[in-house]
Amino acid sequence: MPSTGATAIANANIAFIKYWGNRDEKLRLPSNASLSMTLAGLETETTVEFNDGWQRDEVFIGGEAQTGAARERVVAQLEVVRARAALGLRARVSSRNNFPSGTGIASSASAFAALTLAAAAAAGLSLPEPELSALARQGSGSAARSVPGGFVEWVMGEEGKPETSLAYTIAPPEYWDLTDVIAVVSQNPKSVGSTSGHALAKTSPLQAARVATVPERLARCREAVLSRDFARLADIVELDSNLMHAVMMTSMPPLIYWEPITIAIMKSVRRWRSEGLPVCFTIDAGPNVHCLCAAEVAAEVHRRLHDNLDVKRVLVAGPGGPARLRS
Ligand code: DP6
Repeated sequence: MPSTGATAIANANIAFIKYWGNRDEKLRLPSNASLSMTLAGLETETTVEFNDGWQRDEVFIGGEAQTGAARERVVAQLEVVRARAALGLRARVSSRNNFPSGTGIASSASAFAALTLAAAAAAGLSLPEPELSALARQGSGSAARSVPGGFVEWVMGEEGKPETSLAYTIAPPEYWDLTDVIAVVSQNPKSVGSTSGHALAKTSPLQAARVATVPERLARCREAVLSRDFARLADIVELDSNLMHAVMMTSMPPLIYWEPITIAIMKSVRRWRSEGLPVCFTIDAGPNVHCLCAAEVAAEVHRRLHDNLDVKRVLVAGPGGPARLRS
């Protein structure tokens, strides 16, 4: 096999029930199950080539050669795929996001889903989606959820069987036209990334209570999605986001990702909902606010964020499909 290559595309995702904390940091086995929506149009496209003449893995992101920790993380994921394929060749990886970088929109999920699929295909593997999801998980936990499309559940998996912690579709993208209207309020890179954040989760006295009550919230969230019950979904999604941020804020050291504008949007969203607009918020490890709403009110939510709260940058995404190879 002198030289082979493949290109894959994967979408970002937004968690309704959050992943925060690992029971195994290295394998990224989560402390709790999670549930998300894959986001159409927010994509990472990654090409992986293997060549027997190369001495070293090279990684380019957005056209720039990577060094240090960013490169190491990609190389570690190449190792995961090479071990699965019994392949020793070095690779060249080239990756690009179609959404503006530095917006704090989770790119590790789409990035490691696309990387894993492209590397597996370039290595000659044609893997079933569940196995691909479990492999992607080792690169970035939330990447397990960017392999399948639509509404997705990532299960904890059985003890001693890391390959069983994977994500699958519970409803296809066309099942419910929910829309994520993302208020991009800061472009600054976050001071503490998710990987370091996960490691701090257990230092919060609230983490055990959050984790213990995930199964009940997840079941309610799944039912809300499957019955397309927005009012029910809204309450559970906001509660779960607030619980994760309560853990973050009570970790040692504390992680406070919100800015004043984040709280202003949270309050406005709750007021708009009480006045009848079907919208709720959820927030990841950063200050941006994901406003989930019915598709028919997405333009109104966008307008209010812009006009009432002076949010200049807004991204809009509906439910998206699975990670795929470019032919
Ligand atoms: C707050 O998947 O980014 O977005 O496994 O270290 O790459 P790593 O972490 P990551 O964590 C995501 C955390 C979150 C919640 C979520 O998406 O469930």
